[in-house]
Amino acid sequence: MELIREYADWLYLVGAILFILTLRGLSGPKTAIAGNRYGMIAMAIAVLTTFFVAENPVIWMIVGAMALGAVVGIARARTVPMTQMPETVALMHSLVGLAAVLIAIAAILHNNQLSTLFAYNAQGLAEAGVQASHMSKVHLFELFVGCFVGAITFTASVFAYGKLAAKKWAKTIAGAWVKPLQAIVFIAMLACGIYFFGFGNMPAFWAMTVLALIFGWIWIAPVGGGDMPVVVSLLNSFSGWAAAGIGFTLENNMLIVAGSLVGSSGAILSYIMCKAMNRNILNVLFGGTMGATAVVAAGGGNQVQRNHRSGSADDAGFLMSNADSVVIVPGYGMAQGRAQNAVKELSELLKSQGVTVRFAIHPVAGRMPGHMNVLLAEADVPYEDILEMDEINSDFAATDVVLVIGANDVVNPAAKDDPSSPIYGMPILEAHKARTIMVIKRSMATGYAGLDNDLFYNEKTMMIFGDAKKVVEEMTKSISGSGH
Ligand code: TAP
Repeated sequence: MELIREYADWLYLVGAILFILTLRGLSGPKTAIAGNRYGMIAMAIAVLTTFFVAENPVIWMIVGAMALGAVVGIARARTVPMTQMPETVALMHSLVGLAAVLIAIAAILHNNQLSTLFAYNAQGLAEAGVQASHMSKVHLFELFVGCFVGAITFTASVFAYGKLAAKKWAKTIAGAWVKPLQAIVFIAMLACGIYFFGFGNMPAFWAMTVLALIFGWIWIAPVGGGDMPVVVSLLNSFSGWAAAGIGFTLENNMLIVAGSLVGSSGAILSYIMCKAMNRNILNVLFGGTMGATAVVAAGGGNQVQRNHRSGSADDAGFLMSNADSVVIVPGYGMAQGRAQNAVKELSELLKSQGVTVRFAIHPVAGRMPGHMNVLLAEADVPYEDILEMDEINSDFAATDVVLVIGANDVVNPAAKDDPSSPIYGMPILEAHKARTIMVIKRSMATGYAGLDNDLFYNEKTMMIFGDAKKVVEEMTKSISGSGH
């Protein structure tokens, strides 16, 4: 035990390096499993070292909390479907935020901290001396930042969870009053925080905490459903910074490093997602609501009746088995229909018949970053067959058949050629350039952005209506039965 205490900083350093290797590994599908393992080892080192380093640990409380967390975590991990992952992640971030708030409160209520705070009061200043006042000022600042970032993360994440899980209480708010209210609450929160920071005033601390909790809610409540995943990613970043804040409060280097890694990687991911949707992060957080605009755009005005061509799984199977090249574009519908294994089977069959089959992945296809990659990896689709948008877009024009499986917005040509479209400017997979286009979906319904899609009415397009898994299985059956 003494040994672990003595080498704690070294162990934390090893943990920090392993966390960095984790992120490095997770950046590619081939190295992701190794990355995950580094993360597990790093976390085990961090938890065990902290356990032994803690002074007078209340063992039963720590073990009890860990056991409770493990039971809830394992139960949730086993039962949560892939489609509910974004809201689960949001809920987890809320816990990090709550932990930051509770630790800040505990640190303040703890006797030592209280005396430090009092030392910083005008009266105590003279007795405590310059050094003490300097130290307590730094400490007050950490508590102030950690607490308000944590409180905002907590309520904002709870709202994001509610919104993504379509809970009734997570209602989007709108109106001219929203922005002034946000500004008033934010300024009041900062004022209380600064007063606490300046004078160690406890009522100001409580007021700041409550205002930060309110701010988290009213800040995220106007954001439309379409932008919620960017918000979740940003809250991931916030939860990291809150954890780093706790690290300063607890003087734990490991937590500072791990929190900063989560904070910065979450910020980078938010940036990448915004870029893929052609959205500006400030516009997402403080501008209009993409979901709301899109719904208005789709529902407003009289819908013109347009013609589309539909075909059967047999027709599609025939065309594909006679093609030289097929590109499969998966989207949210593939996830929803759990069709990934059927899709892999179809692709293997086509390949065995000499057809070149590749998968085209849009960065925001599905409902969370890497959604399609995870599903295709789960179905054992070879990594070399999976191409990112930038890698494949120039190949569509020379492709015989594009098979769109439950994707909609990510192949909507309006993003390229309709300046009045809410998604204008968003990069898309240019499926419309292929020689033949086939789209599997259940109806002519819109996708996440609530927009009609010209691709479905294109004269080169054949709609194959039905559940993704069922249709793909029928295609496979038709091709193997036809003996092509
Ligand atoms: P969407 O545009 O949402 O379209 C999915 C389509 O799948 C729907 O039109 C639906 O049509 C069809 N579908 C649903 N269940 C199906 C099933 N069981 N079988 C067959 N089809 C089914 O999906 P997308 O093209 O992947 O685009 C993703 C959208 O989500 C984008 O707007 C993106 O900005 C947004 N978004 C993405 C993320 C991330 S990080 N991935 C985060 C937030 C938002 P039917 O109902 O007619 O079947």
